[in-house]
Order: sequence, then C-alpha cells, then structure tokens
Amino acid sequence: MISHRLRLGVNIDHVATIRNARGGDHPDPVRAAEVVARAGGDGITCHLREDRRHIRDEDLARIQAASALPLNLEMAATEEMLEIALRHRPHAACIVPERREERTTEGGLDAAGQHNRLAPVVARLSDAGIRVSLFIAPDVRQIEAAMLLGAPVVEFHTGDYAHAEGEQQAAQLQRLSDMAALAAKNGIEPHAGHGLTFDNVQPVAAIPQLAELNIGHYLIGEAIFCGLEASIMRMRELMDLAR
Ligand code: PXP
Repeated sequence: MISHRLRLGVNIDHVATIRNARGGDHPDPVRAAEVVARAGGDGITCHLREDRRHIRDEDLARIQAASALPLNLEMAATEEMLEIALRHRPHAACIVPERREERTTEGGLDAAGQHNRLAPVVARLSDAGIRVSLFIAPDVRQIEAAMLLGAPVVEFHTGDYAHAEGEQQAAQLQRLSDMAALAAKNGIEPHAGHGLTFDNVQPVAAIPQLAELNIGHYLIGEAIFCGLEASIMRMRELMDLAR
C-alpha cells in the first residue's frame, strides 16, 4: 500500500553533541523532542552509540517519559544494545552498522553477510513488540536478506545519493526508487535517511513507496540560523510539496 503522507523522524543526536561539548545539561534533547512535536515531526530518532558520544542511556528514558511521539532507537546489533532496547521498548529499533572510529554511519548494514548474527537480534526485538528496521544500502541482495530475516521495515542509506552530483545523483535516485518499489512489493515498508537537506530532500520524498524519512544533522545545523521549529517546519513543507 502506498501512503501519501510521508512521516518525518527527527534525529536529535546532535543536540546532545552540543550539550556534551561543555559537559553540562544544555541544550537538552528532551526540549528538542518537545519542539519536534510542535513543528509537525512524526517521531524522534536517537542513536545510542557504543561510545555514548551524543545520546546517553538516561536521555532515552527522559525522552520517552516526556514525549508522546514514537521513538526510533538506532542501535548496533550488540548484546548491550539489545538489552537496552528490550528494557526501554521503543516503538522501533533501526539496526545500524557501527564502527567506533567513524564520524557518522558511513554505510549500510551488511544484512546479507551477517544473517546469523542478526537473526536472533531481529527475533528478540520483534518478540518484544519493537518494530525492527534494517539500515541498508538500496540493493537487491540486502532487501532479500531483510526478507529472510523477517524485518518489517528497511531504511535505505541515502548517503550515496546525497553526496553525488549530476548524472550520478540521478542514477542513485533511480536506485532508491527501484529498491523502494521492490521492498514494498515484497511487503517491507521502506524508509530512507542520511545526508538529506532542504536542497536534496524533494526527489527522495517524491518516491511514492517511501513511508518515512529520518533526518538529523542538517536540521540541527540549520536550527542555528532559523531555530529548530522553523527548520523542521520547512523540511516538513518541502516533503509535503514533493508528494
Ligand atoms: N538514519 C540512520 C539510520 C542514521 O544512522 C542517521 C545518522 O545517524 C540518519 C538517518 C540521519 O542522518 P543525518 O544526520 O545525516 O540526517
């Protein structure tokens, strides 16, 4: 089924990045979560990293207590993160690859190559009623792997699209579009995210099968100039206009 209202999940990790730079409690990601709701965001996304460089364990509990919006927890497929997810029971968990030395999540999860490692994680999250998503490259092999794992959702890594230009960007967009259609045809709900901005979001938002975009760094960066509420509202508007 094709949904025409594209959901916007706002990744508030980098509010915590700024807070942590001074080691205090300002700016508070809980306050950001409240702004997301006011601005028309549909969900809160947070990545609890192994090194806790931005969002911390206590933030998750505070955000869940303060916000009525669904929480999408991005997590590595480790026993530690699984235990935390099962304790907090977010609405959704997006399994991402994680390397300590990376600046951000640089590529998609190798769901095809890591079936045996991912299968128990997907099963335990699903058994707890958490909607599992796999952050993968827009790639046939990875979609087939997600089907085999029984993941109800995949999130396509849009980094290759966001970083390309001209014809190469058009090719990456076509790839996203084809893979969104393939996922939907096979009963998987496709989402997308990474590197999306006011300038590049609309062609992605126009892909009819996509149900949700998760956007963080640009929205928080733009908030410096126009405020968080205005930044989210503008993204929401651009997404709606693209449909
Ligand atoms: N989706 C996933 C799974 C991510 O890991 C990230 C980055 O943390 C995003 C979306 C958001 O990417 P960006 O911060 O570039 O908007």
